[in-house]
Amino acid sequence: MREELQAIEKEALEKIENADQFQQLQQVQVEYLGKKGSITKVLRGMGKLAPEERPVIGELANNVRKTIQAALKEKKEALEKAELEKKLAEETIDVTLPGRPVHFGGNHILTSIIEEIEDLFIGLGYEVREGPEVETDYYNFEALNLPKGHPAREMQDSFYITNEILLRTHTSPVQARTMEAYGGDKPVRMICPGKVYRRDTDDATHSHQFTQIEGLYVDKNVRMSDLKGTLKLFAEKLFGKDRDIRLRPSFFPFTEPSVEMDISCAVCGGDGCNVCKHTGWIEILGAGMVHPRVLEMAGYDPNVYSGFAFGMGPDRIAMLKYGIDDIRRFYTNDIRFLKQFHEA
Ligand code: PHE
Repeated sequence: MREELQAIEKEALEKIENADQFQQLQQVQVEYLGKKGSITKVLRGMGKLAPEERPVIGELANNVRKTIQAALKEKKEALEKAELEKKLAEETIDVTLPGRPVHFGGNHILTSIIEEIEDLFIGLGYEVREGPEVETDYYNFEALNLPKGHPAREMQDSFYITNEILLRTHTSPVQARTMEAYGGDKPVRMICPGKVYRRDTDDATHSHQFTQIEGLYVDKNVRMSDLKGTLKLFAEKLFGKDRDIRLRPSFFPFTEPSVEMDISCAVCGGDGCNVCKHTGWIEILGAGMVHPRVLEMAGYDPNVYSGFAFGMGPDRIAMLKYGIDDIRRFYTNDIRFLKQFHEA
């Protein structure tokens, strides 16, 4: 029996040694160690042995079993390692291959213009504020000296949610909201970019939704010359150092006096061309000194405080700056149009 067991061990170890597939190891396992395997068979014959021999053979059988098990384990690990190495060799990455392009989005052109303007005013100490697009009649009109029935309301018809709630027609309501928030005894320097709405028939220069940036500066001794200096700086920053500005008298119920600002045409330099309709000037924004009633309604004493306000349209600014012929292009999401303004 001893010889039998030794033969089994030798045979099994040889088979394991020569195996090059997992399946072969499995076979060895069944053939030698399984319930019907060779070792079990030998042990069945133990009954024929002398009692003092049994433990000796039992121990030997156990040792043979252990040796075969250890050899199987070792070979299995070796095969696994070889397989992994083969896989790694086959799947080597060629790091010299060109990468797959990653597509980046970019800012909408109006966002870029708004950010450029924000940068300038933040540098001048202004705060950037926000206001609601769904606005009350009070802030959109009344607090701006446009009482119910005022004829100037005609020019800013809107989308009404109720008689008292509407989509704001301009960013000017944020003037009143900001002054109220500041409490009537602190200087205010803020700009507010955002979407505004008008009941308009859409065409190349009109859209029922567009953007504005409001500006408000309230302090003691604020004068018209401060407004002019600020607007000149703005024109130079956005349209280049050589731009001239001019202020023309205008009317807004919430400013007095009111002006409209023109810049000298960047296309012809002021000589006259199609873009400036042969006047040499292009209208850019509305502005003026904050009306005393507007200051008062928002809690500022007009005898102590004065201020200026302006409202400009980033759509119009972008159209002029880049020669865009139709305002609807900003809002129809044609990626070919929008991508032109992404930085490379
Ligand atoms: N809110 C005015 C408009 O939409 C623009 C404006 C703002 C004018 C501030 C004067 C001062 O037409």
